[in-house]
Amino acid sequence: MHLLITGSRGQLGQALHTHLNAAHQVTLWSRPEYDIADPATADAVAKLAPNVVINAAAWTNVDAAESSPDAAFAANALGPKYLAEGCARCGAALVQISSNEVFAGEAGRFYREYEELGPVTVYARSKAAGERAARQVLDRLYIVRVAWLYGPGGNNFPSKIVAAADKHGSLRVVADEFGNPTNAPDVAAALEQLIASGRYGVYHLVNEGCASRYEWAVELMRLSGRGHIPLTPIPASEWPRPAMPPAHAVLVNQAAAALGIRLRPWQEALAEYIRNTK
Ligand SMILES: NC(=O)c1ccc[n+]([C@@H]2O[C@H](COP(=O)([O-])OP(=O)(O)OC[C@H]3O[C@@H](n4cnc5c(N)ncnc54)[C@H](OP(=O)(O)O)[C@@H]3O)[C@@H](O)[C@H]2O)c1
Repeated sequence: MHLLITGSRGQLGQALHTHLNAAHQVTLWSRPEYDIADPATADAVAKLAPNVVINAAAWTNVDAAESSPDAAFAANALGPKYLAEGCARCGAALVQISSNEVFAGEAGRFYREYEELGPVTVYARSKAAGERAARQVLDRLYIVRVAWLYGPGGNNFPSKIVAAADKHGSLRVVADEFGNPTNAPDVAAALEQLIASGRYGVYHLVNEGCASRYEWAVELMRLSGRGHIPLTPIPASEWPRPAMPPAHAVLVNQAAAALGIRLRPWQEALAEYIRNTK
């Protein structure tokens, strides 16, 4: 299969490249050569004519999106629109990667694939707009929501927490924001299965289980031999950010699980990641 991966230098893009390269013909697009917010993207996709486009490119700086909404919407809403237009013209399918933050994330809620969206931040609204834009243009579409991604080489929560713990010797971590810590290589493997199924639709590909930021950090410290570093749980109100994230945007994988596609528990995936990064 000929696969086009956009945003190929990001953490999911890199994981996809590593996982898919052996068994498929893979074309990699990244900035500055390929900016998906450029309308010419549609022509470029139609000319390349891959079988499937996996859009791993996105504006992912959630806080900075609050002060740059046009740039965030260009990448996260117009980008998927142009990719979908190109796919429609050449008969390709599109995998549009979306986010748990498209949901309002009310306390205690667990979100299945077909629940109402309720994006709050600029980033979340731009990702929800990307889902809609792709849907309006293309039927051969997988919308795949992920959450709390980390992978080798990424600037992610595990790498930041470990660096901060080593620098400060103690940490305060938010204990009332919950999500699904999710391993990017696991998502790449699940996406390969999903694409092979040919079953278009909306999917939640996250490692099984959920955690607060604090619980995730405790497990990270334990697994990386830093269990002696004191961690203090704090409420999100004591860690103000320009874009306050949803408190409980926890995803449930119902649709992919029905096809036999499941990701392992988050603690197992994190343990392997820590072993490989030591
Ligand atoms: N990270 C998470 O915790 C998380 C959670 C939920 C959902 N997601 C979603 O998962 C997907 C992958 O995220 P990630 O963690 O791999 O992100 P990432 O590491 O930040 O990578 C995103 C990549 O997209 C590129 N990009 C940004 N704007 C672009 C544009 N206009 N044209 C082409 N490339 C562009 C970036 O390039 P530059 O380096 O040039 O900026 C970067 O290489 C995204 O759709 C994201 O919204 C992520």
